[in-house]
Amino acid sequence: MRSFIIDCDTAEDDVASIFLLAKNNMKIVGVTVVEGNIDFDQEIINALWALEKANVDAPVFPGSRRPIVKDFTTVEEVHGKYGLGEIHATTSRKPSPKHAAQAIIDASKELEGKLEILAISPLTNLAMAYLLDPSLPKRVKKVWVMGGTAFAHGNITPVAEYNFWVDPDAARIVFKAGFNITMVPWDVVTEYTINDQEWNEILNMKTPLSEIYVKMFSHYRKYDKDVQKLDGHPHPDLITTAVAINQDIVEKSKHEFVIIDNSDSLTRGMTLIDHLDSDKPWSSSPNTEIIYRIKKNILLEMIKKMLS
Ligand code: BDR
Ligand code: CA
Repeated sequence: MRSFIIDCDTAEDDVASIFLLAKNNMKIVGVTVVEGNIDFDQEIINALWALEKANVDAPVFPGSRRPIVKDFTTVEEVHGKYGLGEIHATTSRKPSPKHAAQAIIDASKELEGKLEILAISPLTNLAMAYLLDPSLPKRVKKVWVMGGTAFAHGNITPVAEYNFWVDPDAARIVFKAGFNITMVPWDVVTEYTINDQEWNEILNMKTPLSEIYVKMFSHYRKYDKDVQKLDGHPHPDLITTAVAINQDIVEKSKHEFVIIDNSDSLTRGMTLIDHLDSDKPWSSSPNTEIIYRIKKNILLEMIKKMLS
């Protein structure tokens, strides 16, 4: 059985990722929570609630409440006040007293060479874990990252994706650290939105999980249509999770050199990809597998199986 830590800023798509891993019999070693989408304490509650709904008994480790250097903003307008659209999650479960960064280090020792990290949020916890223990990348099998852009088409600024923009210093540290990274960019996942027909099919499923899905995603869907000008809602975190679970979903990927702009400028958080594999001084050998295309039919099959 494959073993995962999910590092998330628990809004609706992060929760759906927890559901997808659980439904596919992946072992969830723990959920580490980081600053991002909404109020940090509600993110912890959402993670505990998601595990409860998925019938998974796994610990939740609170991590960093803020980026390493810069200030950031939460985005309740995107995900709803409590991060889950129409749902205000509550739970009697309690988080672990252990810090997320320490939990990542400990799990990497217990599962040396086997641990996979699903990093679907700002990369502060992972950067902190690496700074505490620079030998971490050698013990981690894989880091699946939702973040950044492939073609510099952002969602929080014209050129930056939210997860990298929140903590560009952490993102820069993580991509330089020597982890085995596969990255799913924002401007790739926007090609695979859930259109009106697919949304109606899910509406008609009427299972306990499909009803949660509809309540969680209706706010996000409206935002994506009205503000991001998409024809439906995308699944950044869920697609990253689907890629991690099932590599057959990948239609095109490429190994390239990636570095994140952590300057305080208009390009803060921008993903720089050396598409030319050049020998320029700022470039280096490929450090990331970037996903460029996936198979939508497999994504839909996985979503429907998850909600059934
Ligand atoms: C990413 O930012 C968050 O809003 C989502 O959860 C996703 O991880 C998309 O830019
Ligand atoms: Ca997320």
